[in-house]
Amino acid sequence: MSKIKNKTSLKTLFSEAQISKRVDALAREIVADYPKEFLVIVILKGSFVFAADLIRALETNGGSAQVDFISLSSYGLGSNSSGKVTVKQDLIEDVSGRPVLVIDDILESGRTIAFAVEMMKKRHAATVKTCLLLDKPGRRKVDIEADYVGFKIDPYFVVGYGLDLANKYRGLPYIGIIEDI
Ligand code: IMP
Ligand code: MG
Repeated sequence: MSKIKNKTSLKTLFSEAQISKRVDALAREIVADYPKEFLVIVILKGSFVFAADLIRALETNGGSAQVDFISLSSYGLGSNSSGKVTVKQDLIEDVSGRPVLVIDDILESGRTIAFAVEMMKKRHAATVKTCLLLDKPGRRKVDIEADYVGFKIDPYFVVGYGLDLANKYRGLPYIGIIEDI
């Protein structure tokens, strides 16, 4: 248990070391499956920390990812999903004809990743797979599973390692559960 400045209690769910080990294993799996060059699409904002570690682990393991970013939102400032996914900021790259790996922080209802996958297919990506740091299988509203998953978790609200609550806690180096939410 750690106390951060505003005295909110956080229980560590995954430590820095656990995350790092898992990210390296994911990278090895991805490198084994993908062509040497491919395009990683990072869904902002939640997955930027995970993506930064993953693309370096890909390179260390012999892969070479090009990177682009898209900002999607299905949440307001709180923790309730509105259900509708909107594009806040689009890609710069043309995905047409390229093998694509879409990265996000959490698979919950499935709406965000399903929307992103559909978008890449419509834009004629050569192949589309998904890599999610966390999966809350009990919370699915759309029939979709990720191709690569870091950790499956119970439906806690988690923060840190890029994940936020109302735009806070993204910089925590570990993943924690807020206990007094
Ligand atoms: P989905 O569209 O319901 O699958 O929503 C996934 C998105 O909801 C993720 O990209 C996160 O931004 C957000 N989200 C879901 N659960 C959590 C959580 O426990 N902490 C922080 N953000 C979450
Ligand atoms: Mg997100």
